[in-house]
Amino acid sequence: MPGRILIIDDEKDMLVLLKRIITEETDYEAVTESDPHRALELFKANPFNMVITDLKMPKMDGMQLLEKAKEVDPNVTVVILTAFATIENAVEAIQKGAYDYITKPFRRERILLTISKVMAWQEMVRENLSLRQALAQKESTPPLIGSTSVMKELFERIKQVAPTMATVLLTGASGTGKELVARAVHQHSLRGSKKFITINCTAIPEQVIESELFGHVKGAFTGAWKDKKGLVEEAHEGTLFLDEIGDLNPNMQTKLLRLLQEGEYKPVGSLITKKADIRFVAATNHNLKADISEKRFREDLYYRLNVVNIDLPTLKERKQDIPILAYHFLKKYAQVNGRGIHEISPEAMQALMGREYPGNVRELENIMERGVIFCNTDTLKVKDLHLDREGATFFPEVSEDVARLSFKEAKDKMISLFHNQYIMALLRESGGNISKAAEIAGIQRQYLHRLMKEAGIEADQFKQKAE
Ligand SMILES: Nc1ncnc2c1ncn2[C@@H]1O[C@H](COP(=O)(O)OP(=O)(O)OP(=O)(O)O)[C@@H](O)[C@H]1O
Ligand SMILES: [Mg+2]
Repeated sequence: MPGRILIIDDEKDMLVLLKRIITEETDYEAVTESDPHRALELFKANPFNMVITDLKMPKMDGMQLLEKAKEVDPNVTVVILTAFATIENAVEAIQKGAYDYITKPFRRERILLTISKVMAWQEMVRENLSLRQALAQKESTPPLIGSTSVMKELFERIKQVAPTMATVLLTGASGTGKELVARAVHQHSLRGSKKFITINCTAIPEQVIESELFGHVKGAFTGAWKDKKGLVEEAHEGTLFLDEIGDLNPNMQTKLLRLLQEGEYKPVGSLITKKADIRFVAATNHNLKADISEKRFREDLYYRLNVVNIDLPTLKERKQDIPILAYHFLKKYAQVNGRGIHEISPEAMQALMGREYPGNVRELENIMERGVIFCNTDTLKVKDLHLDREGATFFPEVSEDVARLSFKEAKDKMISLFHNQYIMALLRESGGNISKAAEIAGIQRQYLHRLMKEAGIEADQFKQKAE
């Protein structure tokens, strides 16, 4: 079911604007209502994923609406819209259980970011339930986490190909989960109870890879004291995972082709041909087609391996999975380290969702592991994550600090933060033109000047440089 969002504001223009943004940019349905009482009736009658409400309205203010909505559904996610003048009430609303607040005027991206955060969060809560059920059924499978449509397609594909004998070639960038998928293919196959053997073609030195794979007989070379079984024999009736297949040398490529085609191999130094009953799964982050045209990889071997290709998405292509993955790793490392960390602060989640992951899931996992080690409360915060500059949040740990301040201190802090962020956003929008910025904000040019001076912001840095 696509998500539904209820929007309440006494200004009709605002309703039109929000509805347009949501309809144009998301798959969610937006229902708008200018009368808070009627909105509440709607809310009682129909389920909504989230409520976005204005704070200052004549008949019933957003705070009351929040309280009433919470009475109907304690889990409802409410986002407050507020003008700068009522920012302190917005902070109060957060304390009363609102999820977040957005100051008016807002940028399109700001509202969309909040919506996607809320929806990802809800999806995660839902998926977590079905995941736990799935896990109970298959304890031994390392969980492959993901609830985005690309991941659902991936799960479908795994289920389809797993029970066949088809060789699977897994492609995808580093850290996208190729090894995990290889294991899943094995687990879901009819060989699931047999062995899953991995050979890493990069890690094993060229001189020994043949004997590692095929085994050797006594006296085959110096140091071969006795017969030794190879990994192919180990994997008999099970699955052999050929990791980093793109790094296999040409001589071994030829021998592997024979194994794939005839199911036959010879241990090093042996004259006897052996038979193998093996399911093959291979993985690479090379572009094998390019390797073929540069004669580094045998084309016939490629076609043998690539009976079914599964290409793994990068984390960038499934950003909405970040919350569910982050919670998965939080749980894992909290358990490993014996720590009672149960939550990720919204700011930390925003920081995690807002950054790039060249190392994909592995990188996210490493960040979470580090975060658990540095965290000394029950909630993981931005500072625990030790992110680089690009990973910094738009709004620094406001909610955390605010809770320890007096009302006045908190208010001053929120206002100065708001000034900074808002003025910078305005100047970015106007390309450093103060008059234009003041016009957008609906304030006097001199007043904006004064605010800029107080915040230590200069217009120059926002002016477009002539190329
Ligand atoms: N969908 C996922 N759910 C849970 N954990 C995942 C997922 N994808 C990857 N991981 C975790 O991320 C790490 C990297 O995954 P994996 O080793 O399978 O990547 P890879 O594609 O083989 O990377 P490389 O090409 O660098 O070998 C592992 O610790 C794995 O458990
Ligand atoms: Mg790997």
